[in-house]
Amino acid sequence: MEQKDTILDSIALLKPEHVLDVGCGCGSFTAELSPHCGEITAIDSSTALIDLCKNENQKPNITYVCMDARNIAYPDAGFDLVLERDCLHHILEWEKVLDEMMRLSSKYVLIEEPIDDPRSDAKRNTMRAQRLYLEVQKEVGFSHYPHIPLNTILGYFKQRGWDVETKVIKSDQPVDFGQFFSAFGKFAEKSNRKEYWYDRLDRLKHELKGKTLCEEDEVFISVNRKI
Ligand SMILES: C[S@@+](CC[C@H](N)C(=O)[O-])C[C@H]1O[C@@H](n2cnc3c(N)ncnc32)[C@H](O)[C@@H]1O
Repeated sequence: MEQKDTILDSIALLKPEHVLDVGCGCGSFTAELSPHCGEITAIDSSTALIDLCKNENQKPNITYVCMDARNIAYPDAGFDLVLERDCLHHILEWEKVLDEMMRLSSKYVLIEEPIDDPRSDAKRNTMRAQRLYLEVQKEVGFSHYPHIPLNTILGYFKQRGWDVETKVIKSDQPVDFGQFFSAFGKFAEKSNRKEYWYDRLDRLKHELKGKTLCEEDEVFISVNRKI
C-alpha cells in the first residue's frame, strides 16, 4: 500500500467499502472521511459524544454507535478498513484495542497517534504542559494518558507478528500558551479545587514565560492484511 501522509489521504486513495472508526470523538473527522467511503460505522465509549456526533456530524453513510473499543461487538474481518485517530492514548489497555482492530479488518488498519520527542526546548516545554493537562484530567476522571512511545507500539506489532509501514511527521510549529491550554478550564471547573488548578496553570505560564510551545509530532502506522 502506498504510504500517504494522513489517514484522510490514505482513505481518499483506497476508497474503502466498509469502514470502522474507533474512538470517533465528536465525529468531525468521521464526517470528513465520509465522501471517500462506502459505509462507516463509528464507535466511541462516551454516550454524550455519540449524541453530539448524531446531532452535529450525521451523514447518510455514517452509523454512530456507543461501544467500548476494547471489546467491539462485530464479526471478524467485518470491515475492509479499520482506523483510529488519537484514541489509543486515551485507553490504558490500548493493546486490546489494537487486537480488536486487527481482528475486525479484512484489508487495512490505519493508526494516527501523537508521539513525544524531547529534541528541543519547545518540545520539552510542550511535554511539560501536557503533563499538567493529564494531572487535571486524571483528577476529574477523564481517560487520557501519556503518549505511547513509538517503540512500544511498534514492539507490540512485532510481538504479534504484524508487518507495518510507519511514517513519523515531525512538527516544530509554535503554539501559543493560551491556545494550548484553551480546554484547561473545562477540566479545572469540574474539580472541587479549581483554584488550585488555575494556580498551577499560572505558575507554569510564569515559569515558561517567553518560551514557546509547539505542535506535537504524529506517527502514521498502516497495516495491509492482504499481503
Ligand atoms: C481525542 S478523542 C479522538 C477523536 C477523533 N478520533 C478525532 O480524530 O477527532 C479520543 C476519544 O477516545 C474515546 N475513548 C476513550 N476510551 C474509549 C474506549 N474504551 N472505547 C471507545 N472510545 C474511547 C473518548 O471518548 C474520545 O472521544
